[in-house]
Amino acid sequence: MKVIGLNGSPRLKGNSMKLLNEAMRGAQEAGAETQMMQLYGMNFKGCRSCFACKSKTPFYGKGCAMKDDFTKVMEDMLEADAWVFASPIYNGHMSSSMSALLERLYFSHHNYDAHERMVDKEYPSLLLYSLNGNQMFLDKMGIENSCKYDSFLMQNAFGSSKYMVAKATLQFDDYGKYHTAAVPVEKKTEYSKEHFPQDLNNAYELGKDLVARCSEKTESPRLA
Ligand SMILES: Cc1cc2nc3c(=O)[nH]c(=O)nc-3n(C[C@H](O)[C@H](O)[C@H](O)COP(=O)(O)O)c2cc1C
Repeated sequence: MKVIGLNGSPRLKGNSMKLLNEAMRGAQEAGAETQMMQLYGMNFKGCRSCFACKSKTPFYGKGCAMKDDFTKVMEDMLEADAWVFASPIYNGHMSSSMSALLERLYFSHHNYDAHERMVDKEYPSLLLYSLNGNQMFLDKMGIENSCKYDSFLMQNAFGSSKYMVAKATLQFDDYGKYHTAAVPVEKKTEYSKEHFPQDLNNAYELGKDLVARCSEKTESPRLA
């Protein structure tokens, strides 16, 4: 049993990576072998809409036809059993590296012929997000809908999927070094001290849960 963790933040010690490390620790605790991948710095772009993956050619059913760093990432992912995606929220969505990956991964396995999965086995997934905003901001801006939708797409094409959002996270170790006059630093720091350890613990438990989900069979939910 192998779980692949993908970090979609350029920061190697940021909130996404901390959440991802905990989820992977949970997966290891549950008996999985783990492999980490750092997306930022890899050379790949999002879907170019060539439709080779939908064409009546030998490309059909073979994943994404574009060849670049994503090709090996996808090969490794399909050889594993479950996936953890971690991303900061940038401008209301997952980061561009993670978005590029999910465009290619999902679209090349999105079945236009039938509401059935194209993969031979299921790949349960866990999506971990972190952002600056608090719950009010999350609700007001509808950001959680975007996280929910990413998770829904994963479930549609690959297997059971869950997500979690770590809110009001700290962006810097030392806010004094940056222009952040509008940020209620004290309140934020207090909130984070109380809640981020809980977020880390949730990620750990969800990592364990991910391994348990590998033995479950799930229906592919309909897109419409
Ligand atoms: C380019 C950029 C865009 C961001 N956009 C948002 C946003 O739309 N909403 C928000 O709440 N936080 C936003 N943030 C803050 C990050 O989501 C937050 O600090 C996150 O926890 C960073 O994760 P990391 O430490 O893994 O990089 C943004 C940060 C950057 C650098």
